[in-house]
Amino acid sequence: ALISMRQLLDYAAEHDFGMPAFNVNNMEQVHAIMQAADELDSPVIMQGSAGARSYAGEPFLRHLITAATEMYPHIPIVMHQDHGSEPAVCLRSIQSGFTSVMMDGSLMADMKTPSSFEYNVDVTKTVVDMAHAGGVSVEGELGCLGSLETGMMGEEDGHGSDDKLDTDQLLTDPDEAADFVKKTGVDALAIAIGTSHGAYKFTKPPTGEVLRIDRIREIHARLPNTHLVMHGSSSVPQEWLKIINEFGGDMGETYGVPVEEIVEGIKNGVRKVNIDTDLRMASTGAVRRHLAENPSNFDPRKFLKASTEAMAGICKARFEAFGSAGHA
Ligand code: G3H
Ligand code: 13P
Ligand code: NA
Ligand code: ZN
Repeated sequence: ALISMRQLLDYAAEHDFGMPAFNVNNMEQVHAIMQAADELDSPVIMQGSAGARSYAGEPFLRHLITAATEMYPHIPIVMHQDHGSEPAVCLRSIQSGFTSVMMDGSLMADMKTPSSFEYNVDVTKTVVDMAHAGGVSVEGELGCLGSLETGMMGEEDGHGSDDKLDTDQLLTDPDEAADFVKKTGVDALAIAIGTSHGAYKFTKPPTGEVLRIDRIREIHARLPNTHLVMHGSSSVPQEWLKIINEFGGDMGETYGVPVEEIVEGIKNGVRKVNIDTDLRMASTGAVRRHLAENPSNFDPRKFLKASTEAMAGICKARFEAFGSAGHA
């Protein structure tokens, strides 16, 4: 059954676990997440980005997720809209049955230019008023996600901003976070604490802390009843990177957020952990390998099944590590 983000994350907070939130674009991703959740008895958050809506078409995206509720009636599912660029986008998702929406007012509607605090409060509050009237949850974002290493907003496709951000913009301020939640009433807040979107997060193998756990703890202390969200939380699995490159791919050396650090983040107040890149990599690696090893095959079901299995492996590992297994 579909439930709201607030219901699921309140439960997760009571029971001290974190929820991976996986981006979905196609049926294989939905299958992978649901097979893993079914096997481990975990609740599920599936989220669709603007890119997913334009790829699949909004009705297909929505029906893929509702199909999951029919096939797995015993598993609670949150249908979340990721990174809404303006209130109108969130309103359309609310009207079409999403149980949770993200208003990303940390950026202007072009999704490239950092916004002012006042603008962010204004657009987010507008969405909270509409969403809460219908029992839909809202995630806001304060601070700009970007690498503390390079000062850049990480967008793998090169469409991110070219302007270097300073550390102030790259880390969410605890006082501002408290003020933002008080003024908007969001259920969940995405915070900038050292992660960035996409596959190219860190150029060197992580040694020691890559996340600002101290900052998570400070924000959580100010906002014990607001669910903290960590975007850009892919771990960039080195085994899949190797397989991609072994079978004709060409990805550069890169590292993500170690799973153990995410677990540390969860212990210190993070409740929702956004993951997209890891499933993309597992899928690409599995398809490349399958096609290379089965050159005579022309039945897409065969290589897509390999993709589904590879993604399910990542999902199972995250449900286990974050502690949501056994909580469906
Ligand atoms: O936050 C970004 C997600 O990884 C979605 O990426 O816009 O390419 O669908 P996308
Ligand atoms: P990754 O690119 O690290 O998977 O982050 C995804 C995300 O934050 C979606 O909102
Ligand atoms: Na989101
Ligand atoms: Zn994100």
